[in-house]
Amino acid sequence: MNFENTLEFARNLDKHDLLKTFRDRFYIPHHNGKDWVYLTGNSLGLQPKTTEDYVMQELEDWAELGVEGHFGAKNPWMPYHEIFPKQLSKIVGCKQHEVVVMNSLTVNLHLLMVTFYRPTKERYKIICEAKAFPSDHYAFESHVKHHGFDPDDAIIEVQPREGEYTIRTEDILSAIKKYSDQVALVLFGGVNYYTGQYFDLKAITDAAHEAGAYAGFDLAHAVGNVELKLHAWNIDFACWCSYKYLNSGPGGVAGVYIHEDHAINTQLPRFAGWWGYTKETRFMMEKGFEAIPTAEGWQLSNAPILSMAAHKASLDIFDDAGMPALHEKRKMLSEYLFFVIDDINLRSGEQLIEIITPRNEKERGCQVSMLMLKNGKETFAALTRQGVIADWREPNVIRVAPVPLYNLFEDIWRFGHIIESILKN
Ligand SMILES: Cc1ncc(COP(=O)(O)O)c(C=O)c1O
Repeated sequence: MNFENTLEFARNLDKHDLLKTFRDRFYIPHHNGKDWVYLTGNSLGLQPKTTEDYVMQELEDWAELGVEGHFGAKNPWMPYHEIFPKQLSKIVGCKQHEVVVMNSLTVNLHLLMVTFYRPTKERYKIICEAKAFPSDHYAFESHVKHHGFDPDDAIIEVQPREGEYTIRTEDILSAIKKYSDQVALVLFGGVNYYTGQYFDLKAITDAAHEAGAYAGFDLAHAVGNVELKLHAWNIDFACWCSYKYLNSGPGGVAGVYIHEDHAINTQLPRFAGWWGYTKETRFMMEKGFEAIPTAEGWQLSNAPILSMAAHKASLDIFDDAGMPALHEKRKMLSEYLFFVIDDINLRSGEQLIEIITPRNEKERGCQVSMLMLKNGKETFAALTRQGVIADWREPNVIRVAPVPLYNLFEDIWRFGHIIESILKN
């Protein structure tokens, strides 16, 4: 499409947007009586207007039924989590018994590493991306130390080449090959939180398997954002949070995928709790753990219903929109954003912003990370003052992520218009 950097053009794109009614299903935060230009769905997704009703339903059932709500609530609490696999399997591309909603992201990463990081004297290395999210790095370090290894030796970070920001797939694959006798686990972010680079999950998984290692992914920035086919790509395990693109509320309950080859194996080592115990005999309250032969077998505790109610409110909206339509709009939004930023550089006669996110649409999702070549921090502060919510990452990056459920093409035009006027002054 031949884009134009004008308000009229952006509004016309919104007018013809097939998902345009979905914005009305969210609360858009206000600034001086006007909607924020909210571009941080990659950090905290907005609140669906239905969330309150979903949560209230559970509060009312709790008030009226007390413990009887486990079976007698409108949505009985006992099997509440069982409503999610149908919806999530469409979002992450897997079979229903491969997915479970539980805990929070870093907790789940730890639980999955208990199962899938089983180092031996010879095979103990973890290969990950440089600039992995720090919480992941802390998880890697702590597991490595727990098993008696040295993080500096055991954790291999694949770096971008000199002068580049993103990591070449060929470099990831050759690192896996190089350490093929020593690697136990390859663990990458699906989409890197800093650069927005969407890694080639299938190629990484194939290379890990060839080397005799497991492949797992932290999908915090990928779920509800990019196209995923976790089962078809033979990925061993993955985990994600629900508060970014999945709009399920701050610190909301998280998700886990475990490939069925592993999920059905009740003998796989794990940290166990009663909610992972075979349902038919759970309440016999006997010792001797017997795992549910699905991803549910990794659950520890009974379900956090209030958080799950918020999750359900959002996933019902995803169901209504459908992932294919969301992907189509997401691609258009981010292409328009690239165009607007390029236009700002062009019109100013010098490069003010360097985009470090890959241009190839197969290597990115909603997020575009901009390296500010001049007055980064001041520009970011001025953006906030003028009603644009983006986010800042040291040393000099502003991340913006227009999301298809509630962002407008007009938001992108406005963002461009405001940042251009700030940079001019
Ligand atoms: C890529 C990634 N991994 C892990 C985390 C940590 O998530 P949590 O605090 O929910 O455990 C985040 C949080 O933003 C993240 O972006």
